[in-house]
Amino acid sequence: MEKRDKIYEGKAKILYKTDDPDKLIQYFKDDATAFNAAKKGTVVDKGVMNNKISTKIFEFLESEGIVTHYEKMLSDREMLIKKVSIVPVEVVVRNKAAGSLCRNLGVEEGKKLPISVLEFCYKRDDLNDPLMNECHIIALELATQEELDKIKEIALKINALMSKFFANLNLELIDFKLEFGRFKGGIILADEISPDTCRLWEIGTGKRLDKDRFRHDLGNVEEAYQEVLSRVSK
Ligand code: TMP
Repeated sequence: MEKRDKIYEGKAKILYKTDDPDKLIQYFKDDATAFNAAKKGTVVDKGVMNNKISTKIFEFLESEGIVTHYEKMLSDREMLIKKVSIVPVEVVVRNKAAGSLCRNLGVEEGKKLPISVLEFCYKRDDLNDPLMNECHIIALELATQEELDKIKEIALKINALMSKFFANLNLELIDFKLEFGRFKGGIILADEISPDTCRLWEIGTGKRLDKDRFRHDLGNVEEAYQEVLSRVSK
């Protein structure tokens, strides 16, 4: 697979064209940002760890019938993916209260939510990725109602699958963020799934094993990502 021109660079990843017009290379960087890039830094080898963790999770989800953009891992930092057209909406699923839910709604961190809470954010760095509702998504023509229904259905299915997957590794899936893309007329899972995009608390100790260690300067950031990698690699 030949790596060609860079077509996109985000905060944590770069996308390159390949000699196959239907495939891209997703390159994982060590750069870390939080609070819409108000806080910036690097986490040593985060890109390597997130590439490997995402690979394991995509392979698990594919084995459970979820269609993803993942094709294969090419190197430590590179993943071959299907070229999709990204729906510019971040989909967050929450099982326990944390992060912006606590900040925005005054809920106590760690409160078990009696239903899985689905949230949508508009992928617009210039607007700081604002929360939006389903009517906004349809009204702004970011997705059709049919696409949105599919996205919600897949997101909830992924929540059930990943909650069980992580529980088997003694990790509680508190919340996570997904992105979806259009591919051959359907909706498939895209982007990455890693400690950058999930909150994972160790069962029993409550130890944070995710990007909150970077966001809130809790220390041992690399060790937390490494711990997640070693658990998903078992
Ligand atoms: P939040 O509580 O900060 O809104 O985050 C909810 C989940 O979404 C958490 O697991 C982190 C993830 N997330 C991202 O992956 N990217 C983002 O830009 C944000 C804000 C959150």
